[in-house]
Amino acid sequence: MTRPSIVGISGSLSAPSRTLSFVQHAAERIAGDVGGEAHIIDIAALSGVGTLRTRAEADAHVEAALRAVETADLLVAGSPVYKGSYSGLFKHFIDFVDYRSLIGTPVALLATGGSDRHALVIEHQLRPLFAFFQAAPLGTGLFLTDRDLAEGRIASGPAEQRFERLVEEAAHALKVRNSHQTRIAGAAA
Ligand SMILES: Cc1cc2nc3c(=O)[nH]c(=O)nc-3n(C[C@H](O)[C@H](O)[C@H](O)COP(=O)(O)O)c2cc1C
Repeated sequence: MTRPSIVGISGSLSAPSRTLSFVQHAAERIAGDVGGEAHIIDIAALSGVGTLRTRAEADAHVEAALRAVETADLLVAGSPVYKGSYSGLFKHFIDFVDYRSLIGTPVALLATGGSDRHALVIEHQLRPLFAFFQAAPLGTGLFLTDRDLAEGRIASGPAEQRFERLVEEAAHALKVRNSHQTRIAGAAA
């Protein structure tokens, strides 16, 4: 079996970015636990993505990033909260992802914000977006504020416990996905 591809996407416009560090930390931790490979996409660092009008216009880097998302075994999708939702750049990038490519793909949903006021961005914004794709978001999502996060490290306590649960759910989802794919391959042989 090939090593599962864990693709992290960060929709932050900042550099440095708490969201990017968090996405990277989560993707690398999941990949480490399952023997997979983590690949991180910092959308804002992809030159020209903000002004892209059609996928055909995408340069090789943007196209490779879109393909990585579409072929991932598990996505780690993270955005800062901007005006109560994911960033516009995050949505703009996702708008170019093929609508059939994420059916059944497990997705770890992450967000960072300035306060707990918008913690439900995961449930009210990110989860419905991935429902559109018929993806399979993990039950546990994680919203963190500055209080919980410094340089990608998660403070001990409830946030850390939730993170551990998310990592366990990710590993389980990958195992189920792998056995399902093995069964399909066996049936077709
Ligand atoms: C344009 C903009 C809009 C924001 N809107 C919100 C918001 O509605 N709710 C919130 O909790 N934080 C909001 N924030 C704060 C960011 O979500 C927060 O600082 C986040 O952790 C930044 O992550 P980063 O370090 O990856 O940029 C906003 C920040 C910016 C720049």
